[in-house]
Order: sequence, then structure tokens, then C-alpha cells
Amino acid sequence: MMTWEELSELTKTRRSIRRFEDRPVPEDLLLKAIELATWAPNGGNQQPWRFLIVTNRELIGKMADAVRDKTELMASWPEAGQFEETVARWRKSSDFFRGAPACIAVLMGRYSSIADQILQARGEQDSAAREIRSWREIGKSSLQSAAAATGYLCLFLHYHGLGTTWMSGPLQAKKEIETLLDVTSEWDVVSIVPVGYPAKISKTPPRKPVEEVIRFFR
Ligand SMILES: Cc1cc2nc3c(=O)[nH]c(=O)nc-3n(C[C@H](O)[C@H](O)[C@H](O)COP(=O)(O)O)c2cc1C
Repeated sequence: MMTWEELSELTKTRRSIRRFEDRPVPEDLLLKAIELATWAPNGGNQQPWRFLIVTNRELIGKMADAVRDKTELMASWPEAGQFEETVARWRKSSDFFRGAPACIAVLMGRYSSIADQILQARGEQDSAAREIRSWREIGKSSLQSAAAATGYLCLFLHYHGLGTTWMSGPLQAKKEIETLLDVTSEWDVVSIVPVGYPAKISKTPPRKPVEEVIRFFR
């Protein structure tokens, strides 16, 4: 077993990596990391995830083009004018995953728990059912499950010296990316994780002191 200190070191040295060396990622490392990620806790053990591994650079380029096109569209809207400086940075960086030798698209499936089935049967008229449904939607079990696996994935790839960035930004081109990756209607792309050997290690963004983010009820 890993010591606490080793686990702490692994966790704290993982960074979101946005520049990659031009060297392929061994497929067996990707597979190993994904296999471990599937041991993440998940709602009802439904394992409502799929992982699409893209190493075809042309395809990664097309996904990045789709994201860039949407960035340009949004940046052209007059409403973007007030955020000029941030928009300029975003225009440069939103498609940075173009430079990654591999990308993993994380898909979320539809999982219907017993509570979901009861709420569905109850219909729209009942206000209590509507309210409960809206609360459950905020903490959607399948999204949380896919997110848990993604966190593990990034950590395990880091263990192997690989850099990743968990990205939800590309969802601005969700439909285009799903078309490029032949994603069927029962699945949703929820994130893109570029993977590669780090060419530049990002600065460590500070964390809030733990006292600021906890509250005990003893
Ligand atoms: C759900 C989620 C979505 C994210 N989306 C993006 C993204 O679209 N683009 C990006 O550059 N980083 C993205 N990140 C990475 C965060 O910016 C990063 O994790 C955070 O700044 C902390 O830095 P660290 O990962 O190096 O510790 C995302 C992270 C998470 C968990």
C-alpha cells in the first residue's frame, strides 16, 4: 500500500497540463488508467460512463476546430465586448487540446434509480415531485459518477508521468464533437481530457485553507 505521504505527494503534484511534448502516449498506459478509473464509486454501480480514446491527430484537430469556431462565434457577440481582456485570452486557449497526442472523451449514460422511476411515473403535475426532480437534477448521479472516474483518471495518468487537463469548456461544441465521435443519443459527452507528456508544468494554483471550506456539526 502507498503511504499517506506518497498519496499526498501524488495528489498535490498533479497539475492541469496544457502544453504537451510531441510524443505519443503508450496505449497500455491509457488503458490501465481507465481501467482503474472504472473503480470509482458510482451511483447504483451502474457505471454510467464510456471513455473514447482519440489518438488520431486529424480527429483531435477537427474537435479543436469545432471548439474554436464556437469560441469565435461567442467572442463576436456584442455582449462579449465588456470582457475584452479575458475574451482575448480565451480565444487563444480554448482549443489548446489540439496540441495533445491523445484525448479522452468522457461520456455519461442515463441512469434511472428507483427514485427517478417513481418521479417519472408521478408526472409533471405534482409540485412536490417537480421540486424533488429539480433537486436531483442538480446533483445528477450519472454526472457525479462520470466526474468521480475522471478525477481518478487524471490522478492515475499523473502517476505514470502523464499530464492531463479535465476540460468542460469543449462542451460549447458538444453536438459537433459527438458527431465526430459517433456518439449515439443515449450518451452525452461531459468532458474532454487531453493527455500527453508535459512540455510545461503549470504553476500550482493555491488552494483555500481547509478551515475556509469546512464546517463541522459535532
Ligand atoms: C469540471 C472541470 C472543468 C474544467 N474545465 C477546464 C477547461 O475547460 N479548460 C481548462 O483549461 N481547464 C479546465 N479545468 C481545469 C481547472 O482549471 C484546474 O483544475 C484548476 O484551475 C486547478 O488547477 P490544477 O488542476 O492544476 O490543480 C477544469 C477542471 C474541472 C474539474
